[in-house]
Amino acid sequence: MLLEIEGLKASYGKALALENVSMRIAPGEFIAVLGPNGAGKSTLLKAISRMIASEGKLAFDGTSLHPFAAHQVVGRGICHCPEGRRLFPELTVLKNLMLGAYLRDDKDAVARDLERVYSLFPILKDRSAQMVSTLSGGQQQMVAIGRALMGAPRLLLLDEPSVGIAHRLKHEIFDAIRQIRAGGVAILMAEQDALSALRIADRAYVLEHGVVATEGPVAELSRNDHIRQIYLGVA
Ligand SMILES: Nc1ncnc2c1ncn2[C@@H]1O[C@H](COP(=O)(O)OP(=O)(O)O)[C@@H](O)[C@H]1O
Ligand SMILES: [Mg+2]
Repeated sequence: MLLEIEGLKASYGKALALENVSMRIAPGEFIAVLGPNGAGKSTLLKAISRMIASEGKLAFDGTSLHPFAAHQVVGRGICHCPEGRRLFPELTVLKNLMLGAYLRDDKDAVARDLERVYSLFPILKDRSAQMVSTLSGGQQQMVAIGRALMGAPRLLLLDEPSVGIAHRLKHEIFDAIRQIRAGGVAILMAEQDALSALRIADRAYVLEHGVVATEGPVAELSRNDHIRQIYLGVA
């Protein structure tokens, strides 16, 4: 297993946000995390990337992540594209992208990965010298995903990549995510758009109130009555 989580708990002060989450991701697998607002999706991603403390089993490649700080986890191959993007709006597209590679010293590979980002998102090459603040929301999301890719992930954590983005760009972004996965990167994607997520992922976990309410292959979940009613809006 690439990632093994068992009985994971995380809290903000006294408020428990993850109560008991178990999850496994195989190398190259594409996992969607669904669930309503406040279910704990972002918290789960933050716990995995060590942006917040957690308790329980959290192992990557058979090694516990608990002793590691967030930047060390990036070095091991877990790259997080966070909720709200967290870009530097007054820096150029290129500078923002390169920040994702700041721990790397393999210059040739970094240059190849930059070209790869530009081939996934050609608009970013055209805009490379522009400040991020001049880009549309969808283009900024592309920068955020690109920056995470510049860390050379084996596991890419995507937090609601399509939120608030125009329909056409959303399509482009999901298409790029599919290509990233085809390149062998495992993906854990929190997403509100359950229909799109169930179309492109292999398996999904549904989080409700900090616990896994349902899980399974996407084909199975797409037939599940509860999922259909709550998340797909069909009876
Ligand atoms: N920084 C924070 N401080 C306090 N509570 C938080 C913080 N972030 C999230 N929470 C709470 O933790 C729970 C899970 O939130 P979150 O992981 O952001 O859910 P989701 O991403 O599924 O919408 C919610 O009850 C939310 O209010
Ligand atoms: Mg969230």
